[in-house]
Amino acid sequence: MSFHKLRLLVFSSLINCSLCAHVVFVDHFTFTVDDRDLFLSQSAVVEQDGNRSYLSGHMMINRLVNDLTLTSSMDITRPQRPELRLYNVQLNFCSVLNNGYKNKFIRMLYNNYAQFLNTKPKCPLKPNFNYSLHRAYIDEAMLPDLLPECTYRLKMSFKHKSKLLAHMQIDGRLLSKR
Ligand SMILES: *[C@@H]1O[C@H](CO)[C@@H](O)[C@H](O)[C@H]1NC(C)=O
Ligand SMILES: *[C@@H]1O[C@H](CO)[C@@H](O)[C@H](O)[C@H]1NC(C)=O
Repeated sequence: MSFHKLRLLVFSSLINCSLCAHVVFVDHFTFTVDDRDLFLSQSAVVEQDGNRSYLSGHMMINRLVNDLTLTSSMDITRPQRPELRLYNVQLNFCSVLNNGYKNKFIRMLYNNYAQFLNTKPKCPLKPNFNYSLHRAYIDEAMLPDLLPECTYRLKMSFKHKSKLLAHMQIDGRLLSKR
């Protein structure tokens, strides 16, 4: 599914909260290692501070890694409605990191997170380097105004060829601030 379709879906089907700004809370943030031989160390922490949730974490691997595939999906749940899958995509993650991706939405997300990283990661990922994320948050201004109040679940899994290396999950709530 393309991100154009995603945007259309978001704008057309979810019109029950007009002109409201949002507060994005994260309740759970996990990073789970699937390939134990690859990771030397990793962490994932969420802190609540004022009206924001901040994500921090780090990871260190023990060999060069290239050819990464990212699979990501996002589901939202609203009261008395069936769960809705906003998107499910598979991307060449190294292309995103190495600047090959031209999709505006993906670049915006990437740029938002890159500012909280200690380096701009490039493929191949380096061994014995501490890649860390410091107090990252979602800029509410980036979200479309018409998103409804909901709970969301964002999943990402990282694969090399068909081998699952690690996966992460973010669970939270989107509340409107009137
Ligand atoms: C959190 O949001 C509420 C409602 O918008 C506001 O009254 C309060 O001052 C905010 N608190 C902080 C720490 O920003
Ligand atoms: C990596 O960096 C993070 C954040 O700066 C730190 O908390 C962690 O202890 C470091 N880990 C290693 C193995 O150096």
